[in-house]
Amino acid sequence: MGIVGAGPAGLILSQLLDRAGIDSVILENRDREYVTERVRAGLLEQATADLLDELGLGERMHREGLVHQGLYLRFAHQTHRIPLSELTGGRSIWIYGQQEVVKDLIEARLAAGQQLHFEVADVSVHDFDGDSPRIEYTHEGERHVVDCDVIAGCDGFHGVCRPAIESALTIHNHEYPFGWLGILATVPPSTDELIYTNHERGFALHTMRSPELSRLYLQCDPHDDITNWSDDRIWEEMHHRFETDDGWQLNEGPIVDKGITPMRSFVVEPMQHGRLYLAGDAAHIVPPTGAKGLNLAVRDVRVLAEALISFYADNDSSLLDAYSATCLRRVWRVQHFSWWMTSMLHLIGDADDFEHRLQLAQLDYVVSSTAAATTLAENYVGLDKV
Ligand code: FAD
Ligand code: PHB
Repeated sequence: MGIVGAGPAGLILSQLLDRAGIDSVILENRDREYVTERVRAGLLEQATADLLDELGLGERMHREGLVHQGLYLRFAHQTHRIPLSELTGGRSIWIYGQQEVVKDLIEARLAAGQQLHFEVADVSVHDFDGDSPRIEYTHEGERHVVDCDVIAGCDGFHGVCRPAIESALTIHNHEYPFGWLGILATVPPSTDELIYTNHERGFALHTMRSPELSRLYLQCDPHDDITNWSDDRIWEEMHHRFETDDGWQLNEGPIVDKGITPMRSFVVEPMQHGRLYLAGDAAHIVPPTGAKGLNLAVRDVRVLAEALISFYADNDSSLLDAYSATCLRRVWRVQHFSWWMTSMLHLIGDADDFEHRLQLAQLDYVVSSTAAATTLAENYVGLDKV
């Protein structure tokens, strides 16, 4: 197996295959420090956390991660709790940084003696229309070839695998007129569970990484430059957006990381062509409001690993043939949920306030109807039947 990309998708796929005795080579164009330091997702569905346990990788997550059984929706300056676990038969979510997951996976890959090459350049994929695909790349100035049975394109949204088959794909793309400004601050979180806020000035989210480290996001112009946002300006805006009528206080602290991310919904169909299979952000992007990107990437590679194991063990390619259709059912469910959360919580900015009144009506329904709250909760903790 040739795997392009050492993000969560590529690393977990390799680990799943290794467990079944299938060798893989992972090629990553960044250096190890970069992939383990970049701040990205932080929320794991129960099923993702369970998989890490099953793979024997849950030890640090249990020690350092936080388990949450609910979340808060804040609107009209009031806070309402959605009891996730109560509404979903006891399921919960984990707060454990993506870069921590990636660190644990890289260590496991290297400890198992698997081939994982960082800082490779000019990766290209070839002959996936036949039975003997290959990947070419440059490492330390020399050109190399990996001959493999199958290629997994786990190289994220800006990778090379999807463009290599783009003429065979249908692309669905929706860009939102806003982005998220995210910060990491060394200050204890001002909340025990995540707060998603709909405010007249725009969306805000209070999440965390540990009892000492807060992560917060603000809706912003996706084209804005982060240098326009001094730390003082960020905190001032946070105070506005999180304000409540009950005296709740937001703790401030030193900001150690900040950046702006644009938001989009994106899906390619099918997620496969010949012997090249796309997984994770290479095939789809969701806006982060539903906290689904990482979790969806993990679901893809579970399906792909199972199909590859059947292909190698029984020479049966039926699961591989069905890979895209199997994944896309969940992908579209999650696309809808992520779009719904995004639409309900962000400032749309119409002239007559109509959209905002609809959002408030919807939020009021979600916090006052058990059926509506359950819809949010079961999607948020992760549906198993799709
Ligand atoms: P990636 O993590 O992008 O990994 C792809 C890898 O391929 C990278 O290491 C890249 O360097 C490498 N690569 C790229 N091109 C090449 C090449 N040509 N050759 C070799 N290697 C290459 N998701 C959640 O589930 N929960 C959240 O709470 C959440 N919050 C988020 C917050 C933010 C601000 C952002 C930006 C994203 C968030 N996400 C969240 C989404 C999540 O981070 C992604 O969906 C996840 O990283 C997808 O994993 P992946 O392995 O598919 O892709
Ligand atoms: C995060 O912790 O970074 C996070 C949590 C929930 C989201 C998005 C990001 O919806």
